[in-house]
Amino acid sequence: MSERRLLFVCLGNICRSPLVEVVARKRLAEAGLDVVVASCGTSGWHAGEGADPRMVAAARAAGHDLSRHRARQLHAPDFTDYDFLLAMDRDNLRGLHKLAATPEQMERAALFLEWTGVASPLEFPDPWYGDAAGFTAAVNLAERGVAGLIERLRDADR
Ligand code: 4NP
Repeated sequence: MSERRLLFVCLGNICRSPLVEVVARKRLAEAGLDVVVASCGTSGWHAGEGADPRMVAAARAAGHDLSRHRARQLHAPDFTDYDFLLAMDRDNLRGLHKLAATPEQMERAALFLEWTGVASPLEFPDPWYGDAAGFTAAVNLAERGVAGLIERLRDADR
């Protein structure tokens, strides 16, 4: 099976996309799928910082280690370095579309939950503005999205 490269994209790269990255890395490995995953933010507001401590704690409670994450900003080479660039919400997708240099690059940017077939919700709610329950909900939604992602990649191999 060919290697695939997926980039998860949110706003700050300290909550949603780093969470999806670590959940995906673990579940893909368990599924025996050879896929490279990474994450970044459309903004550089938190570049160089670790993940939000509330996100780290909720991820740890579910067995996912976010302690080594460092935030970075989306840049143009991501369109050549990754096969699919998957945005957490429509604002993030607009950020990707702004940076895309060709129609082909535009087509490889999509909403994460749509691409994975979750569809409801279509946008990944940002827990940054809310309470601890929102971070726990984010972990559950990341697991759902990644389960859909694995289904999609398996279907593509059939
Ligand atoms: P993320 O969450 O995009 O899921 O990493 C946010 C992190 C930081 C901010 C907004 C959202 N902020 O406004 O700094």
